[in-house]
Amino acid sequence: MSSTTIENSPASVVSDSAGGKFVQMSHPLVMHHVTRLRDQNTTPEEFRHLVHRLAVLLAYEATQDLPVEPHIVQTPMTSATGSRLRGRIGLSPILRAGLGMVDPVLNLIPDAEVWHLGLYRDEETAQPVKYYSKLPTDRPVEVALVLDPMLATGGSAVSALAELYNWGVRRAKVLSIIASREGVAEVRTQCPDADIYVCVVDDDLNSQKFIVPGLGDAGDRTFNTEL
Ligand code: PRP
Repeated sequence: MSSTTIENSPASVVSDSAGGKFVQMSHPLVMHHVTRLRDQNTTPEEFRHLVHRLAVLLAYEATQDLPVEPHIVQTPMTSATGSRLRGRIGLSPILRAGLGMVDPVLNLIPDAEVWHLGLYRDEETAQPVKYYSKLPTDRPVEVALVLDPMLATGGSAVSALAELYNWGVRRAKVLSIIASREGVAEVRTQCPDADIYVCVVDDDLNSQKFIVPGLGDAGDRTFNTEL
């Protein structure tokens, strides 16, 4: 039996000079699970599990620079000085597909607040259409994580970031499993301060603005509504 070893670093920071970071993961586990996710034979049940695993790996990377403060606890032996997260963290899943990333990230950050954003892409224009947002007008979270498995044209992510910035959020990070090169460029151009974390970047968008080779429609594959 022969095998090929592909050397990888856990993540490559492609650029952080323009303000926000752009981080593309290259961990073997990420590549393994993304490949299963792409496969058209992957069932909705497995698709949801894979999104879950990849969201954990993305969130681990994207939360490396969250602020912490010293925190003293009493162990059964004595006291110990450790750390705890400082400041309010918001998760903003873009409906629908982003919902599949909420539980795994919330499991890592149990005190996070979840602020849903409803956006769908118009099938004719591929422009994002907003249909749900209940962001308050004051007291923005300190750090917002935008959750959406797909970043195609980048329009939905830019729209979500605009909502969050309008609320007053100063630090925002986009976590996407699969992105197009064009979509990443669009977000970096429109929202240069936002950090972007992706598992994989594909080169192309087709005429319907779907990522190619991509994985199809993450919302439909998550919720078994692919007709
Ligand atoms: C998909 C995807 C993103 C968006 C990406 O959602 O989940 O939200 O498209 O495309 P963009 O980068 O070109 O804006 P979709 O509009 O299909 O809605 P759904 O999640 O309800 O299926």
